[in-house]
Formats: sequence, C-alpha cells, structure tokens
Amino acid sequence: MDISGASAIVTGGASGIGAAVVRQLAAKGAKVIVADLQADKGQALADEVGGAFVAVDVTDTEQIKQAVDAAGELGPLRVLVNSAGIGWAQRTIGRDGEFDSAHDLGAFSKVIAINLIGSFDALRLAATAMSRNEPDDDGQRGVVVNMASVAAFDGQIGQASYSASKGGIVGMTLPIARDLSSSGIRVNTVAPGLIDTPIYGEGPDSEAFKAKLGESVLFPKRLGVPDELASMVVECVTNSYLNGEVIRVDGGIRMPPK
Ligand SMILES: NC(=O)c1ccc[n+]([C@@H]2O[C@H](COP(=O)([O-])OP(=O)(O)OC[C@H]3O[C@@H](n4cnc5c(N)ncnc54)[C@H](O)[C@@H]3O)[C@@H](O)[C@H]2O)c1
Repeated sequence: MDISGASAIVTGGASGIGAAVVRQLAAKGAKVIVADLQADKGQALADEVGGAFVAVDVTDTEQIKQAVDAAGELGPLRVLVNSAGIGWAQRTIGRDGEFDSAHDLGAFSKVIAINLIGSFDALRLAATAMSRNEPDDDGQRGVVVNMASVAAFDGQIGQASYSASKGGIVGMTLPIARDLSSSGIRVNTVAPGLIDTPIYGEGPDSEAFKAKLGESVLFPKRLGVPDELASMVVECVTNSYLNGEVIRVDGGIRMPPK
C-alpha cells in the first residue's frame, strides 16, 4: 500500500518505538500526527518530520477524535499505529496474607485502560474515518498496526496486568481484521521483545539493567533498537497481503518466569 500523501496517526509517537515509526512513515511520504502526552518531545518530532503534534491521552475519546480530525486536514487518514503504552510490575498477592497487600486493582485497571482500551478506542475512531476514504486499486482504505509484547505469550512474574493488556491486543487482532475486511482496512499486531527505549528509564542503573536483559536474548545477544521494530511496522503497513497477523520481533527470546 502506497502511503505517500496520506496521513498517519502514531499514538505514543513522542518516544521510543513510536518515534522511530513516526520517522520511518514520514520518510515514506506520510504526513504524521504525533499523538502523545509528552508535548515537548512530540512537538519537536512533528516539526522535524513536517507533521503535527496533537496532545492525546488515549484514555480520552475526545482527544483521540481531535487527532483523527487533525489527520484528516493533512491528507486522507490511511494509517494508525497504536504505540502508546505503559508497564506495571506487581505480584498478584502480597507476602503477609492480608487482602490489602493483594495486587493494586486501580493499577490493573489503569494498564488495561491505556494499553488495551486506549488502543481499541483509537482503532475504532481512526477506522471509522478510514472507511470514508476512496479505495486504492486493491480496494484498500487503510491499515492499523497495534503494539503488543512478547509478554502477551510469556508473561513473567508480576506481569499480570501488562500481559492481560497485551494478550487482549493479540486476541482482538483477528476479529477486528474480520470486522474491517469489508471496508478494505487491514489490521496487524507487532509483538516486540526487549527494545532499548525510555520505557526502562534512564541513567547508569537502567543501563546496567538493560545490559543484563540483553544476555537473555537468543541471538543477537542485545536489546533491539526502535528502528528494528519500526521497520516491521512499516512492512505491516505497506505489504498489502499482511492481515490479521501477530508478528514477534524479539531476537528469538522466550521470557523465563523471572
Ligand atoms: N521497549 C520494550 O522493550 C517493549 C517491549 C514490548 C512492548 N513494548 C510496547 O511498545 C510500545 C512503545 O513502548 P516504548 O518502549 O517505545 O516506550 P516509551 O515509554 O519510549 O514510549 C511510550 C510513549 O507512550 C506515551 N504514552 C503513555 N501513556 C499514554 C497515554 N495514556 N496516552 C498517550 N500516550 C501515552 C508516552 O508518553 C511515551 O511517549 C508500548 O505499547 C510498549 O508496551 C515495548
């Protein structure tokens, strides 16, 4: 699918994998909306690639609609990449047998609200706008790429909420691709392994943590870089025969229990 002259929305586009996706989509000629909480980084990146920044919290439907409207002003919206996401680590129960030390339910809900429901909300609204596009020669009106995680398949100790959110994304990929097929909109999901982004924090402690994490990768024994993920996202966008699929990009890692 040719995306030159089309518009694209990247949620979580101000940082990490999302930022690499913004740059690679712009290099393919798309006008990109950086939809993120982080205004400074988001605006700077939008200026760099000739796109636009829209302040979006993916738990806010009205803000997502504003991003979809802003995209429509730059060109027909043909691409949505859902990269906004947060992590959380906590065991399901505490060590002292008290109800109060069980997993924080508010935290569980927040992770689901941002990673899963936020992705679905952006998807349903962007796909609605895409459904109004003129189809290309292949009948295509648009494409959506979601960001899951290998934690959807091999979640570690403490990852109940994160794995549930990413497992939900994996589970909804095929039914949504089926829902949207009659509108000529494809849906794929990328499941990253361990990728070197600000999600692991910054500074000497996180560098040491990331170096240790890299040793657990099958090959190559290092963390992935955001461009390696963005490259797969671009393939999911431009390869018209990729649909309803979940693709791990993880150096062959299978996460152990901890
Ligand atoms: N880095 C990894 O190892 C890794 C592995 C597997 C999956 N992922 C997934 O990839 C995606 C991108 O992660 P990353 O590593 O680039 O992280 P990152 O922290 O660098 O970027 C995430 C971006 O999402 C934004 N964001 C967070 N909550 C938001 C909200 N409510 N509304 C809008 N924007 C919000 C942040 O401001 C940030 O700019 C996430 O969904 C993450 O779960 C990352």
